Amino acid sequence: MQLHGKTAIVTGGGSGFGAGIAKIFVEQGAKVLIADINLDAAREIAKELGCDYAETNVADSSSVAALAETADAQFGSAPDILVNNAGITHLPKPMEDVSEDEFDRVLNVNAKSVFLTTKTFVPAFKVRGSGAILNIASTAGVSPRPRLNWYNASKGWMITATKAMAVELAPFGIRVNAINPVAGETPLLKSFMGEDTPEIRAKFLSTIPLGRFSTPEDMGNAAAFLCSDAASMITGVAMEVDGGRCI
Ligand SMILES: NC(=O)c1ccc[n+]([C@@H]2O[C@H](COP(=O)([O-])OP(=O)(O)OC[C@H]3O[C@@H](n4cnc5c(N)ncnc54)[C@H](O)[C@@H]3O)[C@@H](O)[C@H]2O)c1
Repeated sequence: MQLHGKTAIVTGGGSGFGAGIAKIFVEQGAKVLIADINLDAAREIAKELGCDYAETNVADSSSVAALAETADAQFGSAPDILVNNAGITHLPKPMEDVSEDEFDRVLNVNAKSVFLTTKTFVPAFKVRGSGAILNIASTAGVSPRPRLNWYNASKGWMITATKAMAVELAPFGIRVNAINPVAGETPLLKSFMGEDTPEIRAKFLSTIPLGRFSTPEDMGNAAAFLCSDAASMITGVAMEVDGGRCI
């Protein structure tokens, strides 16, 4: 029970890695609020796990403000843990062919969301003198694959944001870390691959020394550790959970 008595918000918890993180957090004793733009998905996972949910668009400031009010009502205060997991990609294509609209959507969900949740939750964390923030970045931000260009760059932004946040917030007792997942078995995988064929899967797998895709459970286990008191001396890391892909 690494997270016994803790409260946590997991954005994008209605699917994939976010659902896996929410599941392990609940198993480890946390009270979880799933914040997802997909209300049906959030409701379904929340019902399965016995936790709370809120329809939230992490790229919209008023929606994030409403999430803070829901968290206050559910937890009685700001959460102990905030996981910025919601993320999207554009389809693989030459960088000059990504439309301005696609670029804006990816950057709004993957980068601006971290800015918005920081503005919304950090003041309360500072008053309380504690908080653990976890950003779900990507190996794409460390070792970019061709044709996922601006998605890669958004995750590089997230890794630098993690370090900038960690160094500035450390004096307030707030830890900020990131996880860099390798390609994982979630609904987003098909968008990264362009199309889901045995050949493309084999190509992706050939770059992962441990020889398998990552899973939501892998991310949940790493997230639970980094957000727990066992990691109380760890801040500013962007930890690969990648089967060795970035070696
Ligand atoms: N799956 C992979 O291979 C992989 C690899 C590295 C990093 N990641 C990162 O992991 C995170 C989770 O990805 P996943 O694979 O679980 O994806 P997913 O598509 O399975 O789940 C993403 C969830 O985020 C929600 N979401 C999307 N836009 C949102 C918004 N504006 N506001 C609130 N919620 C929103 C979706 O409704 C969905 O439930 C993302 O940040 C992604 O970039 C994924």
